[in-house]
Amino acid sequence: MATAEQIMSLIRSHTRDDREHFYTVALQIASTEARKGHQAFANDIRKAFKTVERETKSKQVLIPDDMQDVLALRTPDRFRNQLVLAEANQKRVERIMHEYVQQEVLRQHGLSNRRKILLAGPPGTGKTMTANVLANTLHLPMVAVHLDMILSRYMGESSAKLHQVFEFIAKNRALYLFDEFDTLGGERGGNDIGEMRRVLNTLLLCIEQDKSESILVAATNKPNMLDRAIFRRFDDCIEFSLPDRNGISQLIRNSLSTFLTEDISIDSIAKNYENISCADVVSACHDAVKIALLEGKAQVTQLILEQSFAERSAAIKLQE
Ligand SMILES: Nc1ncnc2c1ncn2[C@@H]1O[C@H](COP(=O)(O)OP(=O)(O)OP(=O)(O)O)[C@@H](O)[C@H]1O
Ligand SMILES: [Mg+2]
Repeated sequence: MATAEQIMSLIRSHTRDDREHFYTVALQIASTEARKGHQAFANDIRKAFKTVERETKSKQVLIPDDMQDVLALRTPDRFRNQLVLAEANQKRVERIMHEYVQQEVLRQHGLSNRRKILLAGPPGTGKTMTANVLANTLHLPMVAVHLDMILSRYMGESSAKLHQVFEFIAKNRALYLFDEFDTLGGERGGNDIGEMRRVLNTLLLCIEQDKSESILVAATNKPNMLDRAIFRRFDDCIEFSLPDRNGISQLIRNSLSTFLTEDISIDSIAKNYENISCADVVSACHDAVKIALLEGKAQVTQLILEQSFAERSAAIKLQE
């Protein structure tokens, strides 16, 4: 069963009308119950939320058969309070949301909300997650655009396919995520450079001419590979970086949630791992929770957490 702390968290988020926190705690309870072997109960909790999600979001956009390979529906299921960003970036993300909500006021003065956004930075720093949070907070369906498919499967017809994508964007209000945006920006062995250049020009033109109500988010972890002309097409370019000590502490607090005790010195861990990505911090914490659970502990210990971080850090060094 849910712990007293989890039940109190549910009640507190309900009284504060904090839907995001309510959802996070409920899913946490589902995970805890699943790990204890109470699958049916965990599935009931998840199903209750999935029904609401399906009804409010995914139904709003229907991807036609001939676009299934280039457009894919994603579920916006991440919340603002889970996203840990540098303060300046936090403000810029808030501003995108604020302008979107107030777009009518801006339009009356001939202005448009910032809605063409480029997110650049190292892997695992929250670019895709930011797109997900934006869609979720603004109650927009989220659609991933597979640029790599457009380029490989539609060789010779890529520009026509891109036009078709932007016609779809104009007719279907959603958040469109162009992940790995650098696919088109640089020279890659084996590909037809001339074709790539033409497609890139078409894409820039389509972005520039897009007057839809959709939000376009392009993400890349290789901003150096991008053509300079690309940056001008966006209303905002946000640079992501690895988390600082505060960011790491915040990520640990969020990820351990009810598995955290006062005995744990988060700071002593945060200061030892300043070159770690957000994704690795979250994974190390999840590893620690799993170890604690399987050892029958209700909370993570300092030793377990330190070991999980040491293992994660060794794995990162192997990749370097
Ligand atoms: N800033 C962040 N705040 C909270 N969690 C984060 C953050 N960045 C990453 N994470 C965690 O790591 C996971 C992976 O992050 P995400 O996919 O957003 O990284 P990315 O920047 O898009 O990386 P890539 O460049 O490889 O696509 C997220 O689902 C989340 O659990
Ligand atoms: Mg990503």
